[in-house]
Amino acid sequence: MIKVALIGCGMMGNCHSNSYKSIEDAKVVAVCDLDYQKAEKIAKVHGARIYTDVEELYKNEKVDMIDLCLPTYLHCKFAVQAMQKKIHVFCEKPIATSVEEGMEMIKMAKEEGVKFSVGHVVRFFPAYESMIESIRAGKVGEPRLIRTTRNGSFPKWSWEKWYGNYHKSGGPLMDLAIHDFDWISHYYGEVERVYAKTLKGAAKEQDHCLVTLRLKNGLIAHVEASWGYPDGAVFGTTVEVVGTTGQIEYDSRKSSPVKKHSNEGHYAASLYSPTNPNYEPYTREIKAFISAVIHNEEPVVKAEEALTAIKIALAAKESDCTGEAIIF
Ligand SMILES: NC(=O)c1ccc[n+]([C@@H]2O[C@H](COP(=O)([O-])OP(=O)(O)OC[C@H]3O[C@@H](n4cnc5c(N)ncnc54)[C@H](O)[C@@H]3O)[C@@H](O)[C@H]2O)c1
Repeated sequence: MIKVALIGCGMMGNCHSNSYKSIEDAKVVAVCDLDYQKAEKIAKVHGARIYTDVEELYKNEKVDMIDLCLPTYLHCKFAVQAMQKKIHVFCEKPIATSVEEGMEMIKMAKEEGVKFSVGHVVRFFPAYESMIESIRAGKVGEPRLIRTTRNGSFPKWSWEKWYGNYHKSGGPLMDLAIHDFDWISHYYGEVERVYAKTLKGAAKEQDHCLVTLRLKNGLIAHVEASWGYPDGAVFGTTVEVVGTTGQIEYDSRKSSPVKKHSNEGHYAASLYSPTNPNYEPYTREIKAFISAVIHNEEPVVKAEEALTAIKIALAAKESDCTGEAIIF
């Protein structure tokens, strides 16, 4: 049984907590959040011990892995600290806010011999998987163009409004578009050119983001991400892949009939889908990591790929600032 400490009991901490209910090989034995009540709510579900200070948790607990659901700018510090204690780390995406931090985390995991992976959950969404399978089976011929959207209103629920500080969250390019940068580069190879335009909206930075990628294999992609929709807008993602002989489309707002929407902080979220846990992507990604720990295998999402995703996001940010295309 893998003993887990869940660190960060906000939006994603609750989402992951939900997943552990149906993961047989792991048990959440400790939870930690600065806010006792948030930690208590999750601890009650798992019969776990409650901490408001990570140092205290490590003094009292012997855990095999941490599940890190802290704000992005804290990922590096807390991941490295756990790795130095020989604890495996599953970290929410994006890996970090800078390439230097991401590299430090990867180096430390190697030096300490622990498993480390990042929550690029889109790879575990059944709809994305089946789309990729169809493309691999030649159903659209040679893919030439990918168009994605990942749009919603500003995430107002966050602790100390950290999403609104783009040095801490990276804004929609690092927080939302990162998902599409990950799966596109994972399945279709290296990106060689990035060009981006953003519109400075409600959060005074890049609320609506439009990015074009050219891949080494000639494929082009248009990635759209937004926090600029009005409060209450339903978060949605779409994909269109156009190939030489066909086209495939996905729209999250149409394709999954069973959804729970909650209006947390004026944000209509649909992260918790009351469907069979075997198809629930957050459960599947955590299960995959735990399996890698148990069987001493390389995690499905390699930390180096998570680093690539932030390199693309940072290039997009630079392109937006300079008005120039960034060549890798
Ligand atoms: N994979 C996805 O679909 C997805 C979706 C949303 C967010 N995320 C990522 O998940 C991470 C967390 O985002 P969130 O929306 O849950 O944030 P949040 O603001 O809702 O939660 C963060 C929690 O961390 C706690 N915290 C802050 N500092 C702490 C410390 N030093 N020790 C203990 N607890 C501390 C806060 O009290 C808060 O409860 C971010 O990296 C975000 O980008 C991923």
